[in-house]
Amino acid sequence: MLPAFEWKGKSLLLLDQRLLPWEEKYLKLKTLEDVAESIEKMKVRGAPAIGCVAAYGVVLGLKEGKSLKECVERLSKTRPTAVNLFWALQRMEELGNNPVKAEEEARKIEEEDYQGNLKMGDLGSELIPPGVNILTHCNAGALATSGYGTAVGVIRKAWEKGKVKRVFVDETRPYLQGARLTTWEFLNLGIPTTLITDNMAGYFISKGKIGAIVVGADRIAKNGDVANKIGTFTLSVLAKEYDVPFFVAAPISTIDLSMEAGEEIPIEERAREEVLYINGKNIAPENVDVRHPAFDVSPASHIAAIITERGIAWPPYERTLRELVK
Ligand code: MRU
Repeated sequence: MLPAFEWKGKSLLLLDQRLLPWEEKYLKLKTLEDVAESIEKMKVRGAPAIGCVAAYGVVLGLKEGKSLKECVERLSKTRPTAVNLFWALQRMEELGNNPVKAEEEARKIEEEDYQGNLKMGDLGSELIPPGVNILTHCNAGALATSGYGTAVGVIRKAWEKGKVKRVFVDETRPYLQGARLTTWEFLNLGIPTTLITDNMAGYFISKGKIGAIVVGADRIAKNGDVANKIGTFTLSVLAKEYDVPFFVAAPISTIDLSMEAGEEIPIEERAREEVLYINGKNIAPENVDVRHPAFDVSPASHIAAIITERGIAWPPYERTLRELVK
């Protein structure tokens, strides 16, 4: 599996995820601005990967002679919803203006994320009932992390244990992370994969074809409400209605105990063009009004369990998440 990013000491190699699955091209990022722009333009995306890459962005900024404050301010403005970004920046801030320590810390964040993914895979795969089709949304795989994946990590581990028949992947409009990235990952792993459009999920769930849903997260509030890619909420409602276990896999760095509930989580609104065009091709009248919230919130009451590297949180989440975080 190609890594989403690779630290080279003086630069950060970044797989341009906008080009996948057609082209596998690495960009060489040398400056703070290169990194900030890559996050904004979603050349790199996925909450944990954004956190790791931002940490290396601070290292590059300090090496350029920029102040720590300048680095943190610029990177904080890139994307608002994934709390892993702010969590990583806070870790970097605590070290002061020290490029050597900053580099050590960024490497540590990356390694911890990878190890955490493996742990989530081990723990989460135990929750998957045997012989099921699993549905996932967006991309919470190796490309969205420092490798292996959160939701995809759980699914691939469950597959290795012989529990998974097939994975259904929502295409994930409008950015198509499911169609372009998650199918690419599962096919590379040799896991039987079926791509569906987002509006087909209800059909397959209502026909009893889906035995579990596993998704990632961008921010988890104190009460267990989960912000994730737009469309996740709809799946959580379907899961509740049809009694399908709905699991969220995310590292501790995605839990934000400063937010009481999901309604406090800032939801990114992205450009209208991302809805109006697919691969540069216009699909609707240019002058139509467009909305593009990039995330939604699934209520804690729809979530069967939250899988973290430190253990599984079960309802009531207010207590179990606090115990895992402390
Ligand atoms: O807009 P994106 O592609 O950054 O959104 C990604 C998601 O919503 C993922 O599900 C989430 O970040 C978890 S990735 C392990």
